[in-house]
Amino acid sequence: MRGNSAVAGGVVLAVITMVAGALPFANQVEPIMSAIGVRSAGAETQDVKAIVSVEAVKARAAAYAKDNYDAARWDPIHFKPAIDAASDQACLVCHNEINSAKPRDASLAGVKTTSTLAWYQTLDTYAGAQSDFHWRHRESPFAKQVMNLSCNFCHQGNDPREESPHVTATDAKGAVVTSWNNGNPPFTLRKMVNPSETCLRCHGQFPAENMGLAGKWHELRADLETADAPNGCLSCHAETFRTARHQVTYLKTKEIEDAAKAGSSDTCYGCHGGRAWYRNSYPYPRTPWPDMPTDMPDWAKDRPTSADARFKLPAAK
Ligand code: HEC
Ligand code: HEC
Ligand code: HEC
Ligand code: HEC
Ligand code: HEC
Repeated sequence: MRGNSAVAGGVVLAVITMVAGALPFANQVEPIMSAIGVRSAGAETQDVKAIVSVEAVKARAAAYAKDNYDAARWDPIHFKPAIDAASDQACLVCHNEINSAKPRDASLAGVKTTSTLAWYQTLDTYAGAQSDFHWRHRESPFAKQVMNLSCNFCHQGNDPREESPHVTATDAKGAVVTSWNNGNPPFTLRKMVNPSETCLRCHGQFPAENMGLAGKWHELRADLETADAPNGCLSCHAETFRTARHQVTYLKTKEIEDAAKAGSSDTCYGCHGGRAWYRNSYPYPRTPWPDMPTDMPDWAKDRPTSADARFKLPAAK
């Protein structure tokens, strides 16, 4: 197709032979990159550090900007293993637009954002007008207080062909390539992130049944909350149940407890039923806690007993 593609292909093939075992995706990305005439320094070396270094990213972005948009789309930072090591700063070299994105002032049918109010907008924790999704999850005052979501918490890859966080093809041995929890198959619908492993963690239903509670939280809380103890969740979760929670890098463990003590159950309920976009709830790990009962409830039988390795904090201090 292009004059230099035979040469580029040769170089790339040699590299693939060396690294194919460790890099299941290389054999899919590289031929496409060479076909479109892409020769990126990172791809040739497949050296993760070289691919994700902010200086190197800036240099590649400048080179791509001249004439090779396709090369930028196929930049190796969008693929594993590099994406796992990429800093937010590296992604933002090319994607700073997500920091200035704004929702429309009105829907296409003409309904103004200022004339609608969602339940979660009435909470004490909600600040400001409706804002872009990325801003709400990374920059809003409440987001900054309780969580720490990096780009690759949600974006596990971006393959422009599959439009999937994981390429859905098989590896050289014909095995399905996956790095999800418990060997789950790679997500195949054309979404940019896997909602079951991201959104659902904070936007599932209130898991009342597993708590032996019947009814809705807004009814239950009336009997559990007083002016002195305005957070009904803590009547059970301060000392008695599942007290070793949130041992993950993407949440601010201590700040969540501080906010929960200072405020109402809206703080906890917000991530555990209050902004539920789904009918199920996330199957949370059941981290052993002091004085944990020894009999295992049925629903807990298949639960992991600690956070995913990807996010796990070093053993509690
Ligand atoms: C060298 C520049 C560059 C870097 C660095 C980069 N990207 Fe991209 N990315 C692009 C380009 C160009 C596209 C294609 C955009 C389009 O077609 O709208 C793209 C597409 C995407 C898309 C799909 C957007 C869409 O609308 O289809 C996502 C998601 C994405 N990148 C996430 C990331 C993440 C996360 C990182 C950091 C790990 C990252 N990118 C780093 C240049 C880059
Ligand atoms: C809480 C999860 C989450 C985090 C954290 C996150 N994203 Fe996204 N991102 C999404 C979702 C969901 C979409 C929309 C996907 C779709 O339309 O299918 C998206 C879309 C995008 C797009 C496509 C353009 C757009 O605005 O729709 C780009 C580029 C992107 N993200 C880059 C980033 C970068 C860079 C970071 C880190 C600074 C980041 N994202 C952090 C979930 C996230
Ligand atoms: C780690 C927890 C967490 C994850 C993961 C998460 N969210 Fe959220 N989400 C929140 C919190 C907290 C807020 C409220 C932020 C605020 O009030 O400023 C929120 C707010 C929202 C809102 C309301 C936005 C607005 O401007 O009014 C939407 C919609 C949303 N999330 C969708 C999603 C989707 C879709 C995903 C997955 C791609 C996702 N969230 C992943 C915690 C999370
Ligand atoms: C009456 C006591 C009680 C109250 C009040 C209560 N919980 Fe629970 N909660 C429990 C018990 C019991 C469990 C299950 C313990 C176990 O693992 O054996 C539990 C489990 C959970 C789980 C883990 C569920 C799972 O599937 O792994 C979450 C999340 C949770 N509670 C959040 C909350 C939030 C948020 C509130 C307030 C809105 C709240 N709880 C109020 C008793 C309570
Ligand atoms: C910003 C969102 C957010 C807030 C606020 C929040 N949680 Fe969670 N919670 C999560 C996520 C995400 C997990 C899963 C963490 C993991 O995988 O270990 C979780 C896990 C849990 C678990 C299961 C823990 C385990 O390992 O056994 C319990 C119980 C729980 N939360 C209760 C609460 C209570 C009580 C509060 C208020 C004090 C609260 N949560 C506030 C997002 C939140």
